[in-house]
Amino acid sequence: MIILTPTFSQSSGEKIGRLIGADTQLVEYRVFPNGEVLARINQPESIKGNNVVLYYPTYPDTNNRVIHLLQTLEILGHYNAENITLIIPYLSYCRQDKRFREGESLSLKLLLDILYDMNVDLLISINPHSKETLKKYSKFKVETISLFKPLINKLLSSITEANRDDIIFISPDLGRCKDVKKLAESFGVNHICLEKIRDRDTGEISYKYVDEIKGYRLGLIIDDEISTGGTMALAIKYLNKYDIKYIYTAAIHLLLINNAEKKIFSAGASGIFGTNTVENPFYVIRIEEYIADKLRMIGISN
Ligand code: R5P
Repeated sequence: MIILTPTFSQSSGEKIGRLIGADTQLVEYRVFPNGEVLARINQPESIKGNNVVLYYPTYPDTNNRVIHLLQTLEILGHYNAENITLIIPYLSYCRQDKRFREGESLSLKLLLDILYDMNVDLLISINPHSKETLKKYSKFKVETISLFKPLINKLLSSITEANRDDIIFISPDLGRCKDVKKLAESFGVNHICLEKIRDRDTGEISYKYVDEIKGYRLGLIIDDEISTGGTMALAIKYLNKYDIKYIYTAAIHLLLINNAEKKIFSAGASGIFGTNTVENPFYVIRIEEYIADKLRMIGISN
């Protein structure tokens, strides 16, 4: 078995390779002056008949990386890889899992269909936007890793402002409510779900009124991702009218587009916590060991 990774994710790819006892090879990432990308593997002969784990973060620069990923899969097909396990930590296009407006593309299904046509056997991803729709649309096997519990454990062990009784977990929208409820139960704290309304034409979001939140010193807003920070900032502003002394935010994927962190801190957050599925300065959990554990658990290791 070999692990392949593009040059831009070399250190994480090599770390996963070391943890599962596999040799790591790099996929060159070249961009031509006209913007086209080109993938190249140095020792293609080593692919033949081998099981390949392809570690491929498709964020940032998503569209170029997706094309480069498809080129890499084309190379693996040409040189007869035996079995392909693709790891995309933050799965691109996951949020477009419905035709929200008439005439839109169902991008997630399109991407999964192409990966299937390119002979991907197994896809591993971390906290996809919706595990259910991901499984519904993929024609190959999918394994997901949830890092909510380790993330919240780490967060709670590093803050001293409150006891469990003083803490409330908050879902910033109904879509995340089930996850937050489960997490609150397993950590023995209360929870509340806010109801976010997003205008599909303008992208603007607002909140529906929820019953008063009383008697909590620390609120933890939990979501799968922070993109522009609009959701977190608005949720914090909404919660500011209640007497919650500290509000923290925790999300698996910290994209933090256009200085989202500034928006979140100026709304009143006491901290941002997340993982390194996407490179960012606020991660407290590194994903490589969790990915290696998952690979070992499903029998993919040397
Ligand atoms: C949406 O359904 C997701 O769970 C997140 O709430 C959303 O992607 C966050 O985006 P932003 O940070 O741009 O508000």
